[in-house]
Amino acid sequence: MHRTRRLRNSNSLRRLVRENQLSVNDFVYPLFIEEGENIDAPISSMPGVNRYSVDKLPGIMDKVAAARIPAVLLFGIPASKDEEGAETWNDEGIIQRAVRYIKKDYPQVTVITDVCFCEYTSHGHCGVLVDDYVDNDLTLGNIRKQVLSHARAGADMVAPSGMMDGTIENIREALDANGYPNLPVMAYTVKYASAFYGPFREAADSAPSFGDRKTYQMDPANSREGLLEAEYDDLEGADILMVKPAMAYLDVVRALKENFNKPIAAYNVSGEYAMIKAAAAKGWIDGDKVMMELLLSIKRAGADIIITYFALEAAGLLNKVNYE
Ligand code: PBG
Repeated sequence: MHRTRRLRNSNSLRRLVRENQLSVNDFVYPLFIEEGENIDAPISSMPGVNRYSVDKLPGIMDKVAAARIPAVLLFGIPASKDEEGAETWNDEGIIQRAVRYIKKDYPQVTVITDVCFCEYTSHGHCGVLVDDYVDNDLTLGNIRKQVLSHARAGADMVAPSGMMDGTIENIREALDANGYPNLPVMAYTVKYASAFYGPFREAADSAPSFGDRKTYQMDPANSREGLLEAEYDDLEGADILMVKPAMAYLDVVRALKENFNKPIAAYNVSGEYAMIKAAAAKGWIDGDKVMMELLLSIKRAGADIIITYFALEAAGLLNKVNYE
C-alpha cells in the first residue's frame, strides 16, 4: 500500500511539506482614480472596491502600506475624453497627479501605471481609430507620449495593456532615449478578449461604444499564440510577462512559466472577483476560503506576481499569525 495520507496527518506536517505558499509579497493592488474631489465611490459590481479622487487616496493607501502590499497598479478616469485619449499624456492628468501624490507620501510602495487609452477615448477603444479600426502604428506614437509622461511623474513601472504590436520595443526605446533606462516594463503579454472584464469596464467607464476588442486582444481559444506573444515581448525587452485573466487561463500561466525565465504576473480580473463576492454574499460559498484557494492556485500555476482586487483582504488573512 502506498500511503500518501501519512504526510497529511497534522497541520504542522502539512505545513512542512507544503509546496506553494501565498505571501503578501506576491500582490499588486489595482486602484481606480477619478478626476474630481472628495470622491470615495463604491463600484456596485465589485463590492469592497471604490473609485477615489486623489485627495481621498490616503484612506486606501494607508491600508495598502500597513498591509505591506508591495505595489499598486493605477487606472485613471479622466474628466473628459476625446478621439485619441490626449489626456493620457497630460503632465497634469489624473494618473500623473496620483503618481506624484503616492510617491511623495508612500515612497515604499511601488507605483505601476496601466498604459492604455480605453478610459480616455470617446469611443472606448484602446488606440487611434482609422475607419473604425484601431490603427496599430499611430497608436504606438501616442503610447510613447503617455509612457514618457508617466515616467516624468515618477512612476516606478509602466504596464502597457492595449495589445498593440511593437509596444514593448517602442516603450523601451522611448524610455532609454529619454533618460529612463532603469524604468521596468510589465507587459500585458497574453491578454485575452475576455468577458471577465465586465465589472472593470463599469468601474473605469471604458466599455467600447461599438464592436469589441477582438482585433487586438487574443482569442480565448489559443495558447500557442500566447507563447508567440511572449517570445516577442521577451525579445523586445519586457521585464515582466503577464497573463490576463488568471483563473480561466492557468494553463497559459504555466506555459509561460515553463518557457521564459522572467517573472510571470497573472491578473485576477474584475469578473473573477465579482463572481466570488456575489456567491459569498448569497451564502453559497465561503468567500474567504475560496479567495485564498483561488489565489493559491494562481501561484501554484506559476505566477510570481498576482494582480488582484483581493490583495487587501488576502493580506489581512496572511498577516494573521495563525492563518493556514
Ligand atoms: C484596459 C484594461 C482592462 C482591464 C485592465 N486594463 C479592460 C479591457 O481590456 O477592456 C481589465 C481588468 C479587470 O477586468 O479587472 N485598460
